[in-house]
Amino acid sequence: MRIGPVPQNPWECLGLWTDRVPTPILETFHGLLVARSLMAACRFGLLDALAEAPRTPEEVAQECGCQPEPTRRLLAVLTSLGYCRFEADRVRLTPLARRWLLASSPTSLRDYVIFRYREWEFVEGLEEHLRTGRPMVESSRMDRESWGLYQRGMRAVSRLGAPEVARRTPVPASPRRLLDIGGGHGALAAAFCRRHPGLTAQVLDLPEAVEHAAPLLAEEGLGDRVSHWPGDVFQEDLGEDRYDVILMANFLHHFPEPTCRDLVGRAARALRPGGVLACVDFFRPEDGHSNNQMVTLMHLYFAMTSGSATWTAREVAGWQRDAALLPHCPSRLRRAPGASIQAATRL
Ligand SMILES: C[S@@+](CC[C@H](N)C(=O)[O-])C[C@H]1O[C@@H](n2cnc3c(N)ncnc32)[C@H](O)[C@@H]1O
Repeated sequence: MRIGPVPQNPWECLGLWTDRVPTPILETFHGLLVARSLMAACRFGLLDALAEAPRTPEEVAQECGCQPEPTRRLLAVLTSLGYCRFEADRVRLTPLARRWLLASSPTSLRDYVIFRYREWEFVEGLEEHLRTGRPMVESSRMDRESWGLYQRGMRAVSRLGAPEVARRTPVPASPRRLLDIGGGHGALAAAFCRRHPGLTAQVLDLPEAVEHAAPLLAEEGLGDRVSHWPGDVFQEDLGEDRYDVILMANFLHHFPEPTCRDLVGRAARALRPGGVLACVDFFRPEDGHSNNQMVTLMHLYFAMTSGSATWTAREVAGWQRDAALLPHCPSRLRRAPGASIQAATRL
């Protein structure tokens, strides 16, 4: 999947094929404004204001505390993007907006989109990163509001793939204890507990994350079957022979190679014989200079924000093998495009 110009008539098709379309205009001016329009619509609740029934832009503006004319223009942008439709003087939501952007949708990405305000600040660091090679933002520098946005944003995107990860991870029979390292909101651990009735889970994450993740975990409705373990995984004792399943989802891409290797080793020792370590991530293809837009963007992003990288599944499997685990073949997730599970079993 990629973003890019979509021709709307045969002349534009021809222009694209012959490199006559000025794509940098679309990818910068349009790209910036499309992203920011969606972010503002979510932040001000423009789409949620249309959830019950079609309304005029003036009614939407009044409910959202906005000015009528800018609201009309923003709704026109959202119409051009396929999220709503003008019908006479009223605006109606499309199924696309209902599925992905309404706060009440089970597949809502609204919080994820609002977290992009924080990302907006991150990407301003790209030029400095290019000049110095240093990562621009460390998570420890986030303020309280950003931690809340981060946890809600990650939950929104993780929930999409969580049932599939729980279904496709090769866990041992009748698993009893799961540890989710850097599990934040706990949506993944909760999906495993729903699938395996005898399972209880601990979600290990930094105290500042847990402060905001705790109410989200409570919303999973699993009571004390899933609990938080506030702490820094690099300081905590993970123990030995304790867990049937250990998860590291969207975690290893935050750390340098020796740190990842060491952590995989500690996780391996914390598994019981037959237990499984599942690393879920956007793995970089082996061919290096891939033309996969999502992969190349992620690889740049994690260098810029965390001083790390997207790893290849083979690299992660190598750390697992060095930790005396038996790696499985990576399995691609269908519900989370670009992401895979790299699992390994302790013999
Ligand atoms: C990208 S999020 C992934 C959250 C979740 N696993 C998911 O897939 O949605 C990374 C998480 O790792 C946590 N984290 C970062 N450093 C950590 C550390 N040293 N110890 C424990 N958790 C950490 C962050 O607070 C954050 O919740």
